[in-house]
Amino acid sequence: MTARHLFVTTALPYANGPFHIGHIMEYIQADIWVRFQRMRGARVHFVGADDAHGAPIMIAAEKAGKSPREFVAEIAAGRRQYLDGFRIAFDHWHSTDSPENTELSQSIYVALREQGLIDVRPVDQFFDPVKGMFLPDRYIKGECPKCGAQDQYGDACEVCSTVYSPTDLKNPYSALSGAVPELRTSEHYFFRLSDPRCADFLLRWTGENDRHGQPRLQPEVLAKAREWLGDGSAPDEPGAAGEGRLADWDISRDAPYFGIEIPGAPGKYFYVWLDAPIGYLASLKAYCAKTGIDFDALVEDPTLEQVHFIGKDIIYFHVLFWPAMLHFAGRKTPERINVHGFITVSGEKMSKSRGTGISPLRYLELGMNPEWLRYYIAAKLNSHVEDVDFNPDDFVARVNADLVGKLVNIASRCAGFIVKRFDARLGPIDGEAHQAFAAGWAGADAVAALYDGRDYGKAIREIMAYADRVNEYIDSRKPWELAKNPENAGALHRVCSTALRAFADLVLLLAPVLPATAERAGAMLRMPSTEWAAIGQPLPEGHEIEPYKHLMTRVDPKQLDALFELPESATDADTASADAGAGAGAKAGKGKKGGIASAGSAQSVGDGFIGIDEFSRVDLRVARILACETVEGSDKLLRLTLDVGEERPRNVFSGIRSAYAPEQLVGRYAIVVANLAPRKMKFGVSEGMVLSAGWDDPARGTGLFLLDVHEGAEPGMKIS
Ligand code: 2FM
Ligand code: ZN
Repeated sequence: MTARHLFVTTALPYANGPFHIGHIMEYIQADIWVRFQRMRGARVHFVGADDAHGAPIMIAAEKAGKSPREFVAEIAAGRRQYLDGFRIAFDHWHSTDSPENTELSQSIYVALREQGLIDVRPVDQFFDPVKGMFLPDRYIKGECPKCGAQDQYGDACEVCSTVYSPTDLKNPYSALSGAVPELRTSEHYFFRLSDPRCADFLLRWTGENDRHGQPRLQPEVLAKAREWLGDGSAPDEPGAAGEGRLADWDISRDAPYFGIEIPGAPGKYFYVWLDAPIGYLASLKAYCAKTGIDFDALVEDPTLEQVHFIGKDIIYFHVLFWPAMLHFAGRKTPERINVHGFITVSGEKMSKSRGTGISPLRYLELGMNPEWLRYYIAAKLNSHVEDVDFNPDDFVARVNADLVGKLVNIASRCAGFIVKRFDARLGPIDGEAHQAFAAGWAGADAVAALYDGRDYGKAIREIMAYADRVNEYIDSRKPWELAKNPENAGALHRVCSTALRAFADLVLLLAPVLPATAERAGAMLRMPSTEWAAIGQPLPEGHEIEPYKHLMTRVDPKQLDALFELPESATDADTASADAGAGAGAKAGKGKKGGIASAGSAQSVGDGFIGIDEFSRVDLRVARILACETVEGSDKLLRLTLDVGEERPRNVFSGIRSAYAPEQLVGRYAIVVANLAPRKMKFGVSEGMVLSAGWDDPARGTGLFLLDVHEGAEPGMKIS
């Protein structure tokens, strides 16, 4: 089989904030794949870039008092520490705000125009007369046309979930300046996706197999694409695919806009999503210039497979717009689009802007081993578009059991004897055991197929089955017992040598996931090859190894506590919980805990009093306790499910376990601080705080008493 030639990318992150754990998960997924392909001899070009353009970045830069270029440059400067920290080995990191991207975006646009696929049409849009700019939908607010809720965004109501256009809002205002927006008309440029050529092409392309006979889209992604395109079963019927089901795509924005100018259209810029994926090519081009590769020849090279790793939220752009743009501009289209789900933490969804409670940088700063996270994520990933849950207890258990308890344990139990007793040289192999290992797991080819298919979780399970066999062998032969009697020297040598050869296999099998550990273990065993093909090729008799060096420490659960620790101002998660006022008095006053003030919502005025304005910033509501349960891993917390009169119940952790059994609380009423910022905890997100009374001087008593309301009050009622 000839070696593969790959151009691999991950989605380009917006240059408006540091990486969150979702980014890191995607990069780890792609990095494992790239490292595996390289071990198999593939030539891989693995590039990324910042997605620098667009109105939100322009506006964020202005708020920060910087030019957009200064703003994105600062973000870009922070990228390396994450990538190096998690051993994500991009060959190049670029920016969509670059000469390469300008040139490529403009030339792709011109090619589309020459194909007759660009249209110009007037569009009515809200204009902010103070800011002198057209407003993106997210920057227009007003009353929901359906339910009348105030301060709703221009695209959808967060209260009743109605979707509408900004012009439907009642009493609209600009979220940037507060001004009443004016409806103005301007010329917009459209990519004519409604052209039957586009639907025809996309129907074919989305359903094709890649050159290896595998579908280029995962089944669930293909199903989505078909939903958007129509199923193609009746291409001649009006409205079916082939007749142009897709709407034309508005690819222009008016100045001022941080983006790339549209050739021949003064004052018009490409919408950020037009130039973002072209940034993949721009990064490749810059990398080619850096390494002396001929970019034009490379992208034309029929052996080159273009593979994109993306999240499930941006499928539409990657399976419709992007291949259509490339195809009709006369360029090669992607070979595969690999879509993954989101990362959740203890089952809770992540907010794109706030991230999850896990800060990747904090993880590194705490000195946590990046390969623990790489392993944990790998063990949870499969080839489907499924979310991956980070569960702190599971993380500790899995990493410690597998990496330390199974993998490292083999070397730590055997290498010392070889070095001390046998001049650091391997002895003969126990052929029978070696064969038994081979029979006891799926084998390197099966694992290779799993890595190639991004079924990392299964690959890890197979590899660990091999590690289990080896550990069973060691357990049954007991080298530490053999070592007690010099007559058993031969057996000791054979057992340890056999186990260490298997360890060398395991190191190679896990090298895509654990690159640094593999490197250290490889150096210790003086492994002659880091190629996949070396798996199952036992190190020869007499092979010399280096003394055993510690390969990996166990995860200390305290590190996880620190990872989820609340910001300085907040109370310790496990004592008072997200409900910072558990045990707090309802009123702030001498001798009582200042429940409300300590919740971080209100600042006391100098003399110990607060004004009514300050007090009224705290949104106190009546809540009914729908469900209540203990929290595994915490002896202080109860998890409350509260009806606060909203569409969905809230989840609140409260440090009142010492005072109440869960069943005592179900059905009771409580008072909740409803506008306390949600707080991520080890156990999930706490969305408020219930009030309770108690002395802050333990000498006066440690009892806690939940505040409730008189009969007749209803969930959601405001307390004032
Ligand atoms: O959703 C996002 O974060 C985008 N910045 C992804 C862009 S991917 C590619 F098209 F550049
Ligand atoms: Zn509404």
